[in-house]
Amino acid sequence: MKNIQAVAADRLPALLCQMPKAELHIHIEGSLEPELIFALAQRNGLSLPYPSVEALRAAYAFTNLQSFLDIYYAGASVLLHEADFYDMAWAYFERAAADNVVHTELFFDPQTHTARGVGMGTVVNGLHRACVDAQARLGISASLIMCFLRHLRQQEALETLEQALPYRDKIIGVGLDSGEVGNPPEKFAEVFTRCRALGLHLVAHAGEEGPPAYIWAALDVLKVERIDHGVQSSKDPALMQRLAKERVALTVCPLSNLKLCVFPDLAQHNLRELLDAGLAVTINSDDPAYFGGYMNDNFTQTFAALGLNAQHAYTLARNSFEASFIDAAAKQRHIAQLDACFDAFQ
Ligand code: ADE
Ligand code: ZN
Repeated sequence: MKNIQAVAADRLPALLCQMPKAELHIHIEGSLEPELIFALAQRNGLSLPYPSVEALRAAYAFTNLQSFLDIYYAGASVLLHEADFYDMAWAYFERAAADNVVHTELFFDPQTHTARGVGMGTVVNGLHRACVDAQARLGISASLIMCFLRHLRQQEALETLEQALPYRDKIIGVGLDSGEVGNPPEKFAEVFTRCRALGLHLVAHAGEEGPPAYIWAALDVLKVERIDHGVQSSKDPALMQRLAKERVALTVCPLSNLKLCVFPDLAQHNLRELLDAGLAVTINSDDPAYFGGYMNDNFTQTFAALGLNAQHAYTLARNSFEASFIDAAAKQRHIAQLDACFDAFQ
């Protein structure tokens, strides 16, 4: 790891914003801003149960994951046509570019849409076209990870996988999201085994609200390559040792954890503890339209609350590239640019 010289506290936010970074945990439906929800509702002739953008935003007061998911699935109901999925992803890419995100791996929840009669092709083609344009017009590389909703049955996940097979070349991996507690990873063992045989990358949300046992099961039963969230791992010293030894990346989302009351305030977030224990921690936005911030907001607020420094910034950005599903040459290119950014700053 590169040796990073100290940066004065007043210059640190600029470094955090300027440094190139990868985002590995963003639910694209969670990037739908209230303004876009209203615009899409109008375009599609739908009415919303909120009188205004302000009233919708005012409803974003969550007490836990489920209280958020209820409103998040309602927001996604305005997405009907390929252009809607394209416009949603494009709006995210413009924000990502402004935050110097140079690579991103987007989660999407097809079951939220296919359950409403929207075709799998409509979802995947709209998102994929935006990914292609992000590379061409913004220089951001982007790929798609299809998530299964864990509050539904495994049989439905298997059917979703079947529907996605014609679009296999547009999807790099699969994940597992939605209500965690009561829906352990083991429930999805068979579908993940099939995805593995298809050569898909595997990730899963685990240890967001659920116990360390769910993280063990995501690793040992689902055989995932990264853990999404994973903040509950600090309750289990043996798990911490394993995650550090195997360099299993955690895609941590500080503002999400704050808004969903996983931690009472950012100063009590355990990100620093996880980093200091040698875990491959990354910072991500999760559902930025709902949690009050995109990538750079997550970085600057977390650094201020936890008193993190330039060495932490370098480690987090470097981890984001190393934990990504890009090839070794692309990783080296991004890390060289990261090094150049730090050299220029010091
Ligand atoms: N879907 C969107 N955001 C999520 C989160 N933070 N946890 C689980 N499922 C989600
Ligand atoms: Zn998430």
